Amino acid sequence: MRRIAVTVNGQRHEVDVEARDLLVHVLRETLGLTGTNVGCDTSTCGTCTILVNGESIKSCTMLAVQADGQEITTIEGLATNGTMHPMQQAFTENHALQCGYCTSGMIMAAVSLLKDNPHPSDHEIREGLEGNLCRCTGYQNIVKAVQAVASGT
Ligand code: FES
Ligand code: FES
Repeated sequence: MRRIAVTVNGQRHEVDVEARDLLVHVLRETLGLTGTNVGCDTSTCGTCTILVNGESIKSCTMLAVQADGQEITTIEGLATNGTMHPMQQAFTENHALQCGYCTSGMIMAAVSLLKDNPHPSDHEIREGLEGNLCRCTGYQNIVKAVQAVASGT
C-alpha cells in the first residue's frame, strides 16, 4: 500500500492505495464519489471522465498513484452552492440525457472542451466528444447543450 494525497473538488484527502488501483475505483469506492461511472473495461466509453488539473481524462486509464499531488474535479464538484454548473443546466434544458449513465463523463468532457475552445462548431463538438459514448440520445441534443453554453443562451 502507498499513501497518496489528492485534492478532490477542493477537499484534500489522504488515502492508502495499492499500486494497481485505478483512479476511478478510488474515487468511487474509497471516496464515495459515485457520479463518475464505469461503463466499459476497454477505455472506450468515457463515462469515467474527470478533470485532473483542469484537463479531462478517463479516470479508468490512470492509476491512483499517478494522481498523487494532483487536483481533481468530478461531477460532484461542478455545482456551486447548490447551483448547477451552466453545462449541467444546459444538458437538463436541452434534453441531452436519457438514462444518464454517460452524462457525468459527457459533461466533464464538454466543460474541458469549452475551456480549450470557447466557440466550437458543431463538428468540433462532435470531434471533441468522440471519446464519450452515449447509447441513448443520438448526440444531437448533447451538441445543442454544448452550443447553448458556448453562446451563453
Ligand atoms: S470506464 Fe469506459 S472509458 Fe473509462
Ligand atoms: S443518456 Fe444513456 S448512455 Fe447517454
